[in-house]
Amino acid sequence: MSEVVKLERHDEIAIVTVDSPPVNALSAAVRRGIHECVKNAIADPAVKAIVLTCAGRTFIAGADITEFGKPPQPPGLAEVISELENSPKPTIAAIHGTALGGGLEVALGCHFRVAVKEAKLGLPEVKLGLLPGAGGTQRLPRAVGPELAVKMIVGGDPISASEALKQGLIEEIVEDRVQGGIAFAKKVLAEKRLLRKLRDDDSKLKAAKADRSIFTNAVQAMTKKARGLEAPFAAADAVGAAIDLPFDEGLKKEREGFLKLMNGDQSKAQRYAFFSEREAAKIAGVPEGTKPRNVARVAIIGAGTMGGGIAMSFANAGIPVTLIETGEEQLKRGMGVMQKNYEATAARGGIPADAPAKRMGLITGVVGLENVKDADLVIEAVFETMAIKKEVFTALDKYAKPGAVLASNTSYLNIDEIAKSTGRPQDVLGMHFFSPANVMKLCEIVRADKTAPDALTTAVAIARKIAKVPAVVGVCDGFVGNRMLAQRGKQAEKLLFEGALPQQVDAVVTKFGMPMGPFAMGDLAGLDIGWRSRKDRGIKSEIADALCEAGRFGQKTGKGYYKYEAGSRAPMPDPEVEKLIDETLQRLGRKKRVVSDDEILERMMYPMINEGARILEEKIAARPSDIDVIWLYGYGWPIYRGGPMFYADQVGLKHIADRLSFYAKETNDPSLEPAPLLKRLAAEGKTFASLAAANKAA
Ligand code: 3HC
Ligand code: NAI
Repeated sequence: MSEVVKLERHDEIAIVTVDSPPVNALSAAVRRGIHECVKNAIADPAVKAIVLTCAGRTFIAGADITEFGKPPQPPGLAEVISELENSPKPTIAAIHGTALGGGLEVALGCHFRVAVKEAKLGLPEVKLGLLPGAGGTQRLPRAVGPELAVKMIVGGDPISASEALKQGLIEEIVEDRVQGGIAFAKKVLAEKRLLRKLRDDDSKLKAAKADRSIFTNAVQAMTKKARGLEAPFAAADAVGAAIDLPFDEGLKKEREGFLKLMNGDQSKAQRYAFFSEREAAKIAGVPEGTKPRNVARVAIIGAGTMGGGIAMSFANAGIPVTLIETGEEQLKRGMGVMQKNYEATAARGGIPADAPAKRMGLITGVVGLENVKDADLVIEAVFETMAIKKEVFTALDKYAKPGAVLASNTSYLNIDEIAKSTGRPQDVLGMHFFSPANVMKLCEIVRADKTAPDALTTAVAIARKIAKVPAVVGVCDGFVGNRMLAQRGKQAEKLLFEGALPQQVDAVVTKFGMPMGPFAMGDLAGLDIGWRSRKDRGIKSEIADALCEAGRFGQKTGKGYYKYEAGSRAPMPDPEVEKLIDETLQRLGRKKRVVSDDEILERMMYPMINEGARILEEKIAARPSDIDVIWLYGYGWPIYRGGPMFYADQVGLKHIADRLSFYAKETNDPSLEPAPLLKRLAAEGKTFASLAAANKAA
């Protein structure tokens, strides 16, 4: 008997149960267990039908990703699936939780599928830079037709049990997976139903065989946002093979595509991102078993750009929010923006038609800080001024209930100092959301000097609950993300003084895979904010200042580093900007030179990586992978490049350290000298990943 799969019999029905926590992934032991149990059930004359189900929180969530890249162990998944499909006795998958990837492929190998109402079914391999490698691209189109199959396989999002029922992916929705599975199996036997092998059923392929545009249109729609990624296109090809080729040839094509992707750089990076995201939720240096505090209600202070977005994120997760402003007018404006935002999403079909009213119903707008009294978590999102933040936190000390977690959404300010304005610094921390806060997934959780472990776990747990990706960081100017970004900004600006143009710099950065370059980003955020702050501090930045003096504040004035047509956000290079840069350089007596794209890329990326190394040295981030998570989910770093620290390891730390030394001399900028940690790793021929491994071993 297998440790992780067991075989029981209820009358004439065999129940094969996978029990391999946490998610019943298809490790070699699970594959072996299913194989053995199904073989025994087929051989047992008392068994008339076989139900495959799972214990714990979910049906099989896929292949065991940790086994990828290691020597394959028998039996292969295809063999297990083929055994279920070719069984002379009916095989039925009884699904709860999530049937994902290889898990759904196993279910597709069964003759029938039933699921509980809450179950979800999907082939998310593409999100790991892969395509389904155990028949999913061939069987799913036969089960639901190529159009939906493309949507599920190329997009990677699961569908609900009720949708699966409608589309013929499951036969029935059941109350209880085991009892429901047994009852369904008995029905199959009583009705003498034919055993449906999807491999032999081409009926749902007919329409697409006759009119290929059904398939190509679906592919076009699903690959629109797949810029730079290999897997969505390879996955679409594999589904195409289901339409064009006989089943076994299609399987072969799928296998080739899967192996190519699995051994490629993109999937390696995407698998790393998957595990990094989960690792980031584990807080270094917190006593084991620290329980988060209960959060039933949240108060958010400030209904501006960030406060509104944060409130929506909580409402989206069904958590009631008290949104607090200084006056009725500000409140009305903030509530109005959220309402509009929800309505626009509903009009696009992104949320159900009744969702705006439901979600707005969870947000209570009020005036006055005393209204925080019922909240278990308070998030402050007022103006970015220390004096105002302190005033707010002093008032919170008076009004918030004991034990409430008090968070600031500050982008740069010192949380230790904010904490000092309360009598309960143990409850204070940062929750730094990113704009637009209802969309961006990252939340930097800033741990201050005195933050209590359970306050920290509360922030991490609640961030996950509202579908954000938390990463714990320490206190410093700009925390991890903005601190690294500042290094890129500094180089971008310097490049303009050396002869590069905004559009050249931005093109290199977007070609690398970032959604936007630094200058387009500046135009979006507004150039006047930095200009005013420079003026206050008596600092100059001649080109940026000249733009602002010419009234070019970015998108909001239709002109910045680029020009914008009315109502458009598309940046267009502007000869006037080129002229303005030329004039500024002439005035300063600066000579232009030709700056190569290679130099731009190095100077955009390597100083950030260098800052990342300093951040690790200072223990502002616990792991290189936490830094990568921050860049993946807060700044749109291309997932197929894993994150800046992962990317650095691929490029080689010695090369990066050498190039930084070179630019430090060449551009007379000592801040570019490689950080001690980077220098040491480079000299030892090591990677940032080696640090993570060493930490784990410690
Ligand atoms: N293999 C190995 N480990 C896995 C795993 C998998 N497929 N899926 C999840 N895990 C691990 C996680 O790393 C985590 O480990 P940790 O506790 O040590 O950090 C643990 O299981 C729990 O995972 P989550 O924290 O993500 O738990 P949730 O309850 O939030 O989510 C889930 C559960 C929806 C199943 C989510 O884990 C998930 O999406 N998993 C990946 C599913 C997937 O991509 N499947 C396809 C795999 S590729 C494949 O099947 C190829 C095939 O076509 C041949
Ligand atoms: P905003 O100016 O859009 O909104 C601030 C709101 O706070 C205003 O509506 C104001 O009326 C309100 N407010 C001010 N004092 C208050 C008080 N005492 N009580 C209640 N409400 C008060 O500012 P934004 O952009 O939302 O920024 C808020 C915070 O979030 C700042 O600390 C900022 O640094 C940070 N942040 C901003 C990001 C952005 O991209 N805008 C990104 C991440 C963080």
